[in-house]
Amino acid sequence: MSQSDFNTDEVSRLIRNRRTIKPEQYDQSKTVERSIVVQMLENANWAPTHGMTEPWRFTVFAGEGLRQLAEYQAEQYKELTPSEKFKEKKYEQLITRPLHASYVIAIGMKRQESGKIPEVEEIEAVACAVENMYITASAYGVGTYWTTGGITYYEEVKPFFNLGNDDRLLGFLYVGYPNIEWPDSQRYPIDEKVSWVEQ
Ligand SMILES: Cc1cc2nc3c(=O)[nH]c(=O)nc-3n(C[C@H](O)[C@H](O)[C@H](O)COP(=O)(O)O)c2cc1C
Repeated sequence: MSQSDFNTDEVSRLIRNRRTIKPEQYDQSKTVERSIVVQMLENANWAPTHGMTEPWRFTVFAGEGLRQLAEYQAEQYKELTPSEKFKEKKYEQLITRPLHASYVIAIGMKRQESGKIPEVEEIEAVACAVENMYITASAYGVGTYWTTGGITYYEEVKPFFNLGNDDRLLGFLYVGYPNIEWPDSQRYPIDEKVSWVEQ
């Protein structure tokens, strides 16, 4: 296939129909096929990467692994949150949410040893990889949800996700078939966010 053989209308339609669908809106009687998650991960691997560092690292929780993640994140939240900030409702959400999903993918950024590439660029590359997964899932009618809540920014949890001190946990991608109609969304017009310089 040459570069110009893509159906560009379909590509635009897919990108614009990519949606965030949260775990409470997943059909728990229908598990997303593993082959779809493998496609998502393969496509993540083709994200742009400055200096070819390929900094994306993923830990995929499935089956009993989801229970492990649920218990771990709720316990860590309890242990690491000062009592005046602790919310029972949040604890409950952390211990139940992963069980709604077919998979939860922990999103990590592996810091280059030399530190030559600025850290922000490594985070940007991982965000591109996540977008690839989001779009791939949408193409299969699979819902995904990137959350940076819960224990995402707790330094102490990094080893659980195979991340070292200089690496970063960037959140969790929940994956499941929706039990709702594919949602609509909206954006302010691009014209408000772009200026053209032509002369
Ligand atoms: C880096 C990042 C982190 C996000 N974290 C959260 C989150 O913690 N909670 C949440 O409700 N949505 C989160 N979202 C999803 C946004 O709410 C969602 O993208 C937005 O509502 C637009 O909906 P759409 O993705 O369907 O277009 C996050 C999105 C990004 C890019």
